[in-house]
Amino acid sequence: MENQSSNKRLDFKLAGYPELAGRVAVVTGAARGMGACFATGLASQGVHVIGVDINEEELKAVFAKSADANGKTAGGGTLTAMRGDVTSSESLGGIAAAAAKQFGRLDMWISNAGVFPQSEIGSVTAEQVRQTFGVNVDGVFFGAQAAADVMQPGGVIVNMASVAAFRVRRGRAIYSATKAAVHNLTRSLAVELGDKGIRVNALAPGFIDTEMTNWVREIPGAMDKALASIPLGHIGAPEHVLGALLFLVSDSAAYVSGQTLGVDGGSRHG
Ligand code: NAI
Repeated sequence: MENQSSNKRLDFKLAGYPELAGRVAVVTGAARGMGACFATGLASQGVHVIGVDINEEELKAVFAKSADANGKTAGGGTLTAMRGDVTSSESLGGIAAAAAKQFGRLDMWISNAGVFPQSEIGSVTAEQVRQTFGVNVDGVFFGAQAAADVMQPGGVIVNMASVAAFRVRRGRAIYSATKAAVHNLTRSLAVELGDKGIRVNALAPGFIDTEMTNWVREIPGAMDKALASIPLGHIGAPEHVLGALLFLVSDSAAYVSGQTLGVDGGSRHG
């Protein structure tokens, strides 16, 4: 039976950041998991969110659950679905331009889309290497380029790294390498975009309960092994990471740039 402490413990209330209302955000990989939570969470703070995913059908379906036919949500923000592929700089450039045209501004770019292949070194294929770097690294870089092109001073970019950038495991060599690259890209982008008044930070989640990590529940003993390395003793939910994202995009983080913030229950040190 699954360990009780796999429960993600959602007994907390997220802070509100009223200054975010009316601002405009792009969230990649928004059809499910953390991206869907970020998109709806930002919209509930009054943000106009353009969600991007290669899976347009799932994206539209998930947005339809939180918004009316015009994309308006209960929190006052809006949800707009756009098909896009983060491995293509043209695709992301088009989305940044469309966001700026539709709303007259672009304030936040959340590079969340990612893939998580797991294979031991001997069986990793060249195609897997290219695809993982393409989505997890190229996608972050192209996203920052597209955003910086249209953002005004005060703009914020948040990239998704992972605890895997700092802690390695068998079967995750390529994934860990891509997330370490995101950590370092974030530092470089913060340096290059600082004089445009754009802040760039990353989030490094630990074990978060999404479709990406469902496999853990299917392997006997895997959940207990994972929990043993989490000092807080339970796995995370997308809402835990949303709390950190809202802080990073808010004015409370106005002097925070070039940082990778762990949201991992302490597991980077576990
Ligand atoms: P997920 O697998 O549930 O969702 C990822 C989304 O990205 C999907 O909707 C997928 O269609 C989309 N996507 C994939 N390739 C794309 C492309 N080329 N263009 C546009 N969209 C694309 O993943 P989850 O768990 O929500 O993770 C989100 C991010 O957080 C990823 O970058 C992941 O590496 C990272 N992360 C996840 C952790 C976890 O425990 N779930 C832990 C640490 C980091």
